[in-house]
Amino acid sequence: MTPTYAKRPLQLNDHGQLRHFLSLDGLSNALLTEILDTADSFLEVGNRSVKKVPLLRGKTVCNVFFENSTRTRTTFELAAKRLSADVITLNVSTSSTSKGETLTDTLRNLEAMAADMFVVRHADSGAAHFIAEHVSPDVAVINGGDGRHAHPTQGMLDMLTIRRHKGAFEPLSVAIVGDILHSRVARSNMLALRTLGCRDVRVIGPKTLLPVGLEQYGVRVFTDMNEGLRDVDVVIMLRLQRERMQGGLLPSEGEFYRLYGLTTQRLALAKPDAIVMHPGPINRGVEIESAVADGPHSVILNQVTYGIAIRMAVLSMAMSGQTAQRQIAAEEAK
Ligand code: CP
Repeated sequence: MTPTYAKRPLQLNDHGQLRHFLSLDGLSNALLTEILDTADSFLEVGNRSVKKVPLLRGKTVCNVFFENSTRTRTTFELAAKRLSADVITLNVSTSSTSKGETLTDTLRNLEAMAADMFVVRHADSGAAHFIAEHVSPDVAVINGGDGRHAHPTQGMLDMLTIRRHKGAFEPLSVAIVGDILHSRVARSNMLALRTLGCRDVRVIGPKTLLPVGLEQYGVRVFTDMNEGLRDVDVVIMLRLQRERMQGGLLPSEGEFYRLYGLTTQRLALAKPDAIVMHPGPINRGVEIESAVADGPHSVILNQVTYGIAIRMAVLSMAMSGQTAQRQIAAEEAK
């Protein structure tokens, strides 16, 4: 399995409050519940005529995305703007990193512009953790997805979606289906579901797309989708990450869809009121049938809406945690 990068002290301040948000690994049920409750309270901001609260007024949030993104980048930008922060989004493909500038030098320059928070997406596992270790102690780092390792805000928006549609986590059966091997979303979801007390977390996929060591997450593993889907409350489909595959992992996309595609017929094996989720981008006809993606069980677009509230919660909580840490350091220096 991918090693654990985010050690508890780096993410939390001396009072146990969020300071960076790098991974769900090691975070408590209480802290995850606080994030969900805070996000719940922000949902109504999106329904106001003036969609703003002043919590991050005067702060600067810098989105630095070294990998493509539609949902994560735009919802972080919206979340920061709804909190009244100033927002810069660095387009890395047109930045000086393409002229050979190192990651550290790019970040030093952004720090010199007095950014208070970095939201980072990077193709390398551990990149957000590396950045959190190297930026000034006053800057909060939020992981917008690093390699195969973690996508913690996606994990939390998925938890908010489940809680709002299904209530308490404990009695639920949740299936995560598809390309588990390459999925940072699967890792974050397994950690979040188990921490929040979900007793029956199932992981379904072909042997070649299941990483070794899955049992450490406390999940049940299935290679037969029909068996794994039986009577579940929630189905989380994953994108087949063809760009991360080195060949030989799948006979063909057609074969994958035949065995692991979520069709209307297969969905009938789940509970009648099951919800269908997908982090996006979806590949219609590769992992999910269009009729299911657009059908009455699908909450895929609700996930995107909830993502703004979760990102508002994480940005505001990390900023408070940083401020509190500065006060602790100032007291200690007296
Ligand atoms: N779910 C997700 O991370 O989507 P993007 O790649 O569009 O940000």
